[in-house]
Amino acid sequence: MTDLAEFVRGLPKAELHLHLEGTLEPELKFRLARRNGVELPERTVEEVVRTYDFHDLTSFLQVYYPAMRVLRQPQDFHELAYEYLLRAHAQGVRHVEMFFDPQAHTGRGVPFDTVIGGYRSAIVRARREVGISAELILCFLRDYSAEFAMATLMEALPYRDWIIGVGLDSDERGHPPSKFADVFARARQEGFQLTMHCDIDQQDSIEHIRQALEDIGVDRLDHGTNIVEDERLVELAASKGIALTCCPVSNSFVTTQMKSAEITGLLQRGLTVTVNSDDPAYFGGYVADNYLALAEHAGLEIDRLAELARNSFRASWITSARLAGYLAEVDEYVARYTAA
Ligand code: HPA
Ligand code: ZN
Repeated sequence: MTDLAEFVRGLPKAELHLHLEGTLEPELKFRLARRNGVELPERTVEEVVRTYDFHDLTSFLQVYYPAMRVLRQPQDFHELAYEYLLRAHAQGVRHVEMFFDPQAHTGRGVPFDTVIGGYRSAIVRARREVGISAELILCFLRDYSAEFAMATLMEALPYRDWIIGVGLDSDERGHPPSKFADVFARARQEGFQLTMHCDIDQQDSIEHIRQALEDIGVDRLDHGTNIVEDERLVELAASKGIALTCCPVSNSFVTTQMKSAEITGLLQRGLTVTVNSDDPAYFGGYVADNYLALAEHAGLEIDRLAELARNSFRASWITSARLAGYLAEVDEYVARYTAA
């Protein structure tokens, strides 16, 4: 491992843009398929990886959703989340706010309780075993109806103590934030934090970012890097303290580049930019790998990387007391590392 790789791996950090269903590694997929008697078209890990031929968001989602068929029982969801949490822990993650896509499961007959029960038990177990802290963000699928999203929100209310916020993901084309204005207003009333995907280089990226910031009033933006194209929106996000959850390795799969100049430019301007892994099993990089890829591409040194880690805690939905503790941990880590 290079010095920088070692530094990045040990750097205390939070992860804020991570889809649990996007952590389904081929090995686990085969294990669950066997357990549940699901026939898979591929026979080997290599054959699965060969299908990861993405060039945009749509082509990624066409692989991402069908793979979920192997997830059926609470134990399956438990193992998916537990294995991710151990991997995140090994990459310096202290706290994670993880997306899950309940409609991708309830839509094929898997009960909501099965999904969230499995995820929740994994969170409790990982916390007990390795000390990592984790929360769930319920994502609505934007290519389904607003009515289905509202029904999903209602279904989630009995589990509200297990869910920190709501988000919006899936295919963005033709599905603006405004479509879900009532759902997000209700979620806000119910006490949830709000975030939304404004994916990279979409048809209406700028208008979607504007709606998310001005009409919905989100607390964070997921991706949202195209904000650089509109000075007024950059200033609005800065003045409202809205953080961006960027995913450099993912960007290089769903567009032609990592968007490193845009990400570091926004960081330079003082926006609360964070680095995350999105769907690491598909894009081949967990969170530390994303820090490192960005560092190598943009020539970031340890001071900028430490700032990204501080931002990850600042942008998270933890208490100010815990934030102070994590920031002190980052400072101590950097001081120890630079002294050595
Ligand atoms: N964008 C939209 N939908 C998704 C993503 C993403 O980055 N990851 C998983 N579902
Ligand atoms: Zn995402």
